[in-house]
Amino acid sequence: MASRRFFVGGNWKMNGTKESVEELVSVLNAASLHDETDVVCAPPSIYLHFARSILDPKISVAAQNCYKTAKGAFTGEISPAMIRDCGADWVILGHSERRHVFGEGDELTGQKVAHALDSGLGVIACVGETLEEREAGTTEEVVYAQTQFIADNVKDWDKVVLAYEPVWAIGTGKTASPEQAQEVHQNLRGWFRANVSDDVADAVRIIYGGSVTAANCRELASQDDVDGFLVGGASLKPEFVDIVNARA
Ligand code: G3P
Repeated sequence: MASRRFFVGGNWKMNGTKESVEELVSVLNAASLHDETDVVCAPPSIYLHFARSILDPKISVAAQNCYKTAKGAFTGEISPAMIRDCGADWVILGHSERRHVFGEGDELTGQKVAHALDSGLGVIACVGETLEEREAGTTEEVVYAQTQFIADNVKDWDKVVLAYEPVWAIGTGKTASPEQAQEVHQNLRGWFRANVSDDVADAVRIIYGGSVTAANCRELASQDDVDGFLVGGASLKPEFVDIVNARA
């Protein structure tokens, strides 16, 4: 098994109340978390500062999105500077819901990646194919193209985690099989080897997202090129602790 440090992110999406944030945080603060796993929670922006203020420092905080500039007339947006000002260290970018619900394309995603990294944030950069693209046999073509737009904007890969999230597995309960996940992760690592460098290919963490649960996480985590998870629904439940400890 490679020496890449395991990474588990919890994407709370547009869920929760101040009370439920407090309840979830108390579960996470009390939990025994694998000390060789990086753990990141991504609350809704409105709770970013609050969650950071009550979460144990062993858990990092991410925003679920950001804009591509530091400030200005962009109603409703938040900037990397504001995210850092809240004490958060990471941002999720290119999530399939930003792409397919809000119409964000590869170019804007790349610009956001560049600005977030320049602003000192770590980036969890998401790629993934739709069911139609998979059924058409174009999975690699799609995720390679998405990854290229991300890679064109990265100077320091130490601050980037790539999340492979097949759109057809997100929120559907249809998790990619360990073999399906390993195949795409291995091919993505091969893309890094061919298009970036051997060092980056060996070091970059490629995490899986799409209906990860306490029941399926260990088998997925046993795959050589699965370096962690980006978890949606299950990150709102105590079972998130089991997913964090999938490699424990
Ligand atoms: O960002 C992770 C998310 O898209 C996965 O959602 O609910 O399928 O775990 P879920």
